[in-house]
Amino acid sequence: MNVLFFSPGFPSEMPNFVRGLAETGARVIGLGDQPAGALPEVARHALTNYIQVSSMFDEQAVVDEVRRELGGHRIDRVESVWEPGMLLAARLREALGVPGMTVEQTVPFRDKTAMKNVLQKAGLRTPHHARASSESEVRAAAERIGYPLIVKPVAGAGSADTHRIDGDDDLERVLPAVRHVPELSVEEFIDGEEFTFDTICHGGEIAYHNISWYRPRPLLQRQLEWVSPQTMALRRVDADYLKPGVELGVKTLKALGFRTGFTHMEWFLKEDGEAVFGEIGARPPGARSVDIMNYACDIDVFRGWAEAVCHGRFSQSVERRYNAAIIFKRAQGEGRIQRIEGLRSLHHRFGPHIVGAELLPVGAQRRNWKQTLLSDGWVFVRHRDLQTTMHIADAVGTDLQMYAG
Ligand SMILES: Nc1ncnc2c1ncn2[C@@H]1O[C@H](COP(=O)(O)OP(=O)(O)O)[C@@H](O)[C@H]1O
Ligand SMILES: [Mg+2]
Repeated sequence: MNVLFFSPGFPSEMPNFVRGLAETGARVIGLGDQPAGALPEVARHALTNYIQVSSMFDEQAVVDEVRRELGGHRIDRVESVWEPGMLLAARLREALGVPGMTVEQTVPFRDKTAMKNVLQKAGLRTPHHARASSESEVRAAAERIGYPLIVKPVAGAGSADTHRIDGDDDLERVLPAVRHVPELSVEEFIDGEEFTFDTICHGGEIAYHNISWYRPRPLLQRQLEWVSPQTMALRRVDADYLKPGVELGVKTLKALGFRTGFTHMEWFLKEDGEAVFGEIGARPPGARSVDIMNYACDIDVFRGWAEAVCHGRFSQSVERRYNAAIIFKRAQGEGRIQRIEGLRSLHHRFGPHIVGAELLPVGAQRRNWKQTLLSDGWVFVRHRDLQTTMHIADAVGTDLQMYAG
């Protein structure tokens, strides 16, 4: 099995997927714009070959370069699990005659209006929405849909350029700020908690699934710097209050005709118990969410994905032992990390329930929290009981502090 894998070295989770592929017996040919020497050790070790392309955003050029580099060598799968690589992978599949998602099948997983149109047609609950590519179209959509509204890019990620709008004044304030976005989705604002429904499928069947809970809602995570955002993989994914979301997720995959690979859906749970579709990608969630899936069940989801993609099975048994959370930390102040306080006492208080921490070391330049959810580092915690997991995660939020200056 020869697998062409787009971007083995970046973002930082990618080497683990490459490792998973190699462990299931695949020969992995990496494709990326980094020099081979700059690839992380785990990726380099797992790759059989590597094709460096000059620019990954010129799709036709990449297709041509790949064809030339491959010579006559056969490729059985083309995979990418990174949102900006989804369409490129589909283009490569078509060009090389490899089975898997086509461009046409990929678009509804990329384009937030297209995906909602498909789902609406299938009778699934999505926010009322409209596509707009000019200020007058945004105003017209706002008039039709009514406040409060969300305005966001149709091909967005990480809540960038996403705004809640409560009235005409807000709208006039936000319009100049989103002028650089070519196409916007204008949507009814859905109030509620936000969850994921993540799956690994093969042959159109769900072989593994996960539900994570975002605390607080991602839009707030992105607006409030003092918040330590949490993603929490839940142990009781069969709980009654989550059932509408699971049902919505299963129907969404059917409506989109998804067959094989990872999916990541986000959905809203309203106070009245209704589940409303948010968005879906044909890829795993980022920001270390696959690690919390692993911590929740003590399995290797990276390898599980690879096995599903290459061999059409998911052979690890899934026993959900824990709720597992990641808590992202943002330093106070600007510049370099000066000191980190509270980690030792958290270890002391919660012992084995703190299962990992990767914080920027003292002396490192702090990251731009608006650009990366990973912020200045993170802590993994897990516990069987949900309330206790929330308590520990919140303690990491308040009692662990990083200071920059
Ligand atoms: N229709 C909506 N109603 C309420 N909140 C929304 C809506 N659309 C987006 N949001 C908020 O903005 C965040 C980012 O939007 P999303 O569609 O998930 O885009 P992305 O994660 O790709 O940036 C969501 O997690 C949610 O907090
Ligand atoms: Mg999202």
